[in-house]
Amino acid sequence: MTTITETVSVPTATNIVDEINKKAEALTLSIDVTKRVQGGIPLDLSSKLPAATKARFDRHGLDYSRGYPERPTNGTIPLYHHEAHAVRDYEIPYIARGKDADPEFKALFAKATEVKHLTKYIGTELVGVQLNDLNEKELDELALLIAQRVVVFFRDQDLSPKKQVEIAEFFGIPEIHPIASHPTGEEYRSLRVIWSELFKSGTGKVETFRRNKVDTAVWHSDHPHEFQPAGITHLHIDSNPEIGGDTLWSSGYAAFDKLSPAFQKFLEGKYAYQTSLHAYVDKDDPLGGLKKVERKQPIVRTHPVTGWKSLYVNRGATTRIEGLEPEESKIILDYLYDVYEKSLDIQVRFRWTSGTSALWDNRVSQHSNVHDLVDEQGDAGNRHGTRSVSLAEVPFFDPKSLSQREAQGLDPKRED
Ligand SMILES: [Fe+2]
Repeated sequence: MTTITETVSVPTATNIVDEINKKAEALTLSIDVTKRVQGGIPLDLSSKLPAATKARFDRHGLDYSRGYPERPTNGTIPLYHHEAHAVRDYEIPYIARGKDADPEFKALFAKATEVKHLTKYIGTELVGVQLNDLNEKELDELALLIAQRVVVFFRDQDLSPKKQVEIAEFFGIPEIHPIASHPTGEEYRSLRVIWSELFKSGTGKVETFRRNKVDTAVWHSDHPHEFQPAGITHLHIDSNPEIGGDTLWSSGYAAFDKLSPAFQKFLEGKYAYQTSLHAYVDKDDPLGGLKKVERKQPIVRTHPVTGWKSLYVNRGATTRIEGLEPEESKIILDYLYDVYEKSLDIQVRFRWTSGTSALWDNRVSQHSNVHDLVDEQGDAGNRHGTRSVSLAEVPFFDPKSLSQREAQGLDPKRED
């Protein structure tokens, strides 16, 4: 009888761990930069431009023959979080337009055939005024009107893209976005293309009524994460379908005025963290997920022109209140969002028509878009516009400032 013996090595836990460690040491981590956002004109959508947009561009000499729209050049688009955070991470001089303007708006209103206040607390339409024709004195009065009424509308405009850039430069520091698409041409870097066809091509999926859930339907304020966040913001919709795509705005002055004096006092002087819409790779923690740019801002801020206090938090960008436990922060923020979003008496809903401009103050408002431009077939309605953002002051809270209702004598002896 023959006995066969065989030596079998049984892996021990230590062997396995050593093996894994050896493999892990040999691993190299690389980021596929070909997947990063491509600059220039990676996709020419000019053939899909609506007729009204083409007519506007042709009238005002915007050349889209190279393709449309355009992104910043490749070398300038941030890939890493620290690069995105470094964009405008310092104070830039800002002039508070409207501070010394005529409170009766005589020059501006002389050009209007009608001044229509759309609701009691927010929203005014100036009829008969062409933004293209306004001089600096009239724009200064407009800055004051926007600061007071939060959002001002102009229909039937023939607005040149160049004039839109100039108006943005007058109202503040024109925001040049590091990634977003702008109309073709370096001179239009401060305009952002707001276009249903572009959004459709970006998501790569067919939106339908049931599946359409987009970021901008969440109530938000634009660019609150900036060192100097957005002030006056100007969306010109040059082509809108017959129906759909309304926008709602809500007043931050009035949202603050709805709180009890004790709660107002609790919030004054506190800060909340605000985040960007876009997210970036953290070079020191590339597997930790994309990170947004974040800065803390005062929850109650004083408007430098009206001197009124406003509530500066929003569901789209605010993450937490500094100094509070996460649970406490969440309960308070959810309540503040509700005040802004559910108080219909401090809101205006606006129905766009082709050739309409809306100028609003992101320091003292939130807005939300109605995404009803899609149906079950995924038709996006081909809505197109250009938006400029004028960045404003470094946000501040002045303990001596008044609320709007206090300043207007509407709550003379409030003790509740
Ligand atoms: Fe927005």
